[in-house]
Amino acid sequence: MSPPPPVAMLAELTHRCPLACPYCSNPLDLLKKDAELDTETWAIAFRQAAEMGVLQVHLSGGEPASRPDLVELTQAAHDAGLYTNLITSGIGLTPRRLDALEAAGLDHVQLSMQGTTAELADWIGGYKGGFARKLMVAEELKQRGIPLTLNAVMHRHNLDDLDRTIEMAVELGARRMEVACVQFHGWATQNRGMLLPTREQTETTKRKVAEAAERLKGVMAFDFVPPDYYADYPKACMGGWGSAGLNIAPDGTVLPCHSAQMIPHLTFEKITDKPLAEIWYDSPSFNAYRGDDWMPDTCRSCERKEIDFGGCRCQALMIAGDAAKMDPVCRKSPDHARVAQMLEDAMAAPQDGFTYRR
Ligand code: FES
Repeated sequence: MSPPPPVAMLAELTHRCPLACPYCSNPLDLLKKDAELDTETWAIAFRQAAEMGVLQVHLSGGEPASRPDLVELTQAAHDAGLYTNLITSGIGLTPRRLDALEAAGLDHVQLSMQGTTAELADWIGGYKGGFARKLMVAEELKQRGIPLTLNAVMHRHNLDDLDRTIEMAVELGARRMEVACVQFHGWATQNRGMLLPTREQTETTKRKVAEAAERLKGVMAFDFVPPDYYADYPKACMGGWGSAGLNIAPDGTVLPCHSAQMIPHLTFEKITDKPLAEIWYDSPSFNAYRGDDWMPDTCRSCERKEIDFGGCRCQALMIAGDAAKMDPVCRKSPDHARVAQMLEDAMAAPQDGFTYRR
């Protein structure tokens, strides 16, 4: 049976970024500026995406504002009929640029937040002055009435500050807040020992997010991404492989998820090689983990297979050594003990500083 068309597309416009976040989920080998797609090729990709049924595009990176043609790209996505969401650290956005983005049809901004004080946020992001710039961008967005989601990336060194983070999101006029506990992909794996929260922090966070969501009904909505190493069952990564969304890397490689290139036996095609629809429906990489034929018996017969779709293929590769194995986060996985061991190691790890992405 043919899969439904994707709903969303993540356009990774660039891997360049002024921040040096220790939890960066981008691949270890970043693409350089000269490998990036040009404006017109992105415009073609947006049109093809809209034609096949994509409704929203997330303009992301790296830092998408590092692209001098960000306004033209936003305009192209808007002209294609896509809902445009800019995922940004705020660095590189000036009031003038925001005026131009608004005029180009920018629909929504997702602003990342590393901490609630300059000292904490700039330490985590590895960029002095970043916090002040974010506050300026949030204020400018509020004045323009551009809907804002505050993306609070949470981990062991800022979770105790969650109450203030929530307060701040309300003050900044966010309509939505994503409390996103760090997931371990790409560079983040190098900082697992510093970033993994304690079990107590995780439980407190769950409770606080639920309480705040109730208290702030009608003011601000919440999305919560828990640290899945503490979960009993895996997350529905990407809403299922090749099911709801796709990513395009800065060089035009079309991917089922942002980490997929780590799976060594899969090859991926570029938007410059083939139409997007052909890649989505027919490419062996997108078909590799669709449906349940690929699943181990335990997953195929599991009552949760339509809930988590077998979890995360990249995590299965990273922890269990094979992308077709059960996601080791699942308590039924024969490799679940490895996750428990990783948690134990992380709790014993010295809290002596991040390895920044520079
Ligand atoms: Fe690749 Fe989850 S990150 S499937």
